Amino acid sequence: MSVVDNFYHKRRSVLARKMLSDPIKDEDLNTILNAGIRVPDHGALNPWKIVVIKKNKLKTIDEEVILPEYKKENPNSSKQSLEIESKRLQRASVILAVLSTPVEHPKIPNWEMILSSGAVCMNLLSCAQSLGYAAQWLTEWYAYNNKMLEYLGGRKDIDKISGFIYLGHKVEEPNERRRPDPKNVINYL
Ligand SMILES: Cc1cc2nc3c(=O)[nH]c(=O)nc-3n(C[C@H](O)[C@H](O)[C@H](O)COP(=O)(O)O)c2cc1C
Repeated sequence: MSVVDNFYHKRRSVLARKMLSDPIKDEDLNTILNAGIRVPDHGALNPWKIVVIKKNKLKTIDEEVILPEYKKENPNSSKQSLEIESKRLQRASVILAVLSTPVEHPKIPNWEMILSSGAVCMNLLSCAQSLGYAAQWLTEWYAYNNKMLEYLGGRKDIDKISGFIYLGHKVEEPNERRRPDPKNVINYL
């Protein structure tokens, strides 16, 4: 069977809340990271960065960034939502934060640099899934939070968080989700 039949036509994300956060082998993490940075990139500008967040750093960011920022943005939040926010990142074994870090260029448009960072996200996701890991591309509210952006080394008003690629282990195979009808989204001229 080809990689298309075997993988692309079956690939499916696993929800972060359904993942197990047991450790991931360093060897596999390196494989995933190397696949992530091998993407189309006009002019080889590398206009993106990956920040690897694992072990106690997940907890640190939950406690030092996510929970306080959530409280600031939602002063009347319920006990239940604070409980969720206090463990956001700890759903994963490892999180790969992908930053879009565009550079000034006389010819290559900013838009193409942003697209390339999306390609990094997709390669990380696909590679992790091809190795059998549970993985999901999430932004949630904290991808749009400046404190988070700066904590990850991003420049306010220039860089953006393209996504958090959650990596973990599957408890069960995910159900299929609704997929587009090809005739609604593909046109032949
Ligand atoms: C940029 C981006 C951000 C996303 N953010 C969220 C999110 O915050 N919450 C969510 O439930 N799904 C989010 N998703 C959707 C899921 O990651 C994913 O698309 C969905 O689970 C199905 O993916 P699959 O085709 O890999 O099975 C996001 C997807 C993209 C591309």
